[in-house]
Amino acid sequence: MNLVPTPSPRRLSRFALAGFLAAALLMPALPASEPPSPAERLVHAPHPLVIAHRGYSAWAPENTLPAFQYALVAGADLVELDYHHSSDGVPIVLHDTTLDRTTDAIARWGGKDLPVARRTAAELATLDAGSWFTPPFPGLKLPTLESAVAAIQTRGVTLIERKAGDAATLVRLLQDRGWVNQVVVQAFDWSFLADFRQLEPRQILGALGPPGSRDGRRLTDAEKFLNADWIDQIHALGARLVVWNRQIDAAAVRHAHDRGLKVWIYTINEGPLAAELLSMGVDGIITDHPAILWRTLARQAPHPR
Ligand code: G3P
Ligand code: CA
Repeated sequence: MNLVPTPSPRRLSRFALAGFLAAALLMPALPASEPPSPAERLVHAPHPLVIAHRGYSAWAPENTLPAFQYALVAGADLVELDYHHSSDGVPIVLHDTTLDRTTDAIARWGGKDLPVARRTAAELATLDAGSWFTPPFPGLKLPTLESAVAAIQTRGVTLIERKAGDAATLVRLLQDRGWVNQVVVQAFDWSFLADFRQLEPRQILGALGPPGSRDGRRLTDAEKFLNADWIDQIHALGARLVVWNRQIDAAAVRHAHDRGLKVWIYTINEGPLAAELLSMGVDGIITDHPAILWRTLARQAPHPR
């Protein structure tokens, strides 16, 4: 004997309607799909990207505001910079671990091999970061990461390379300023990328390579070549970009593309080498001298008839 009353088709449709309405009222509204950010659009651009290394560093002191301005005026798709933390935890734009090469720290404080991480942000703000360059740019300051990104993002996209510092500090800065996925973040330290991804999975990440060593052993030149193993590790990390030195070939680029990764190459300042890399299918070239790259790309373009 069937004890469960079978609803008539008419009652069934009323049940269904009531269920649908209840679900609609209880369900959170789906977010309207957001348009892709400029960084996202660049990563998917159907043309090779021109990326200014430490700003337009052939023409102005690297990692300073004039170098970033020159890069933007030169039409670079992205502007790369490097940062470390000061002793009080402020991200400061600088390439080297020490202040010696690109500031007047030795003249000011004496000694040598002066680590950026041993000085407060206030102390670092007193240094001259432009007089070492030829021609000199006296009076330039070491930018904070926040001021540099703010300057670049007014009309461009920043490629932030973390040299030192924890992931949480960078995540907080990008979240506070609304820069998540408006910039691209890259690092040689893949554990930093894993930490970052855990805290902020929306951000586009680039895995820099080749690593200098593995399991405490220095890698040979052959091991530094971009291969399927490296690509699979980067894919598993959740990074979207392989940012490699010139040890690549067309097969490695194809393998990366098959995994859905883009390949950007650093640091290329010679036109013929850039042309060779472009013929392998790389998606972006990082250069001190964007104009050389523009000329290479112009020469590769089909001639008008
Ligand atoms: O953007 C990649 C490139 O900048 C990595 O090398 O030493 O110039 O920071 P490095
Ligand atoms: Ca760099």
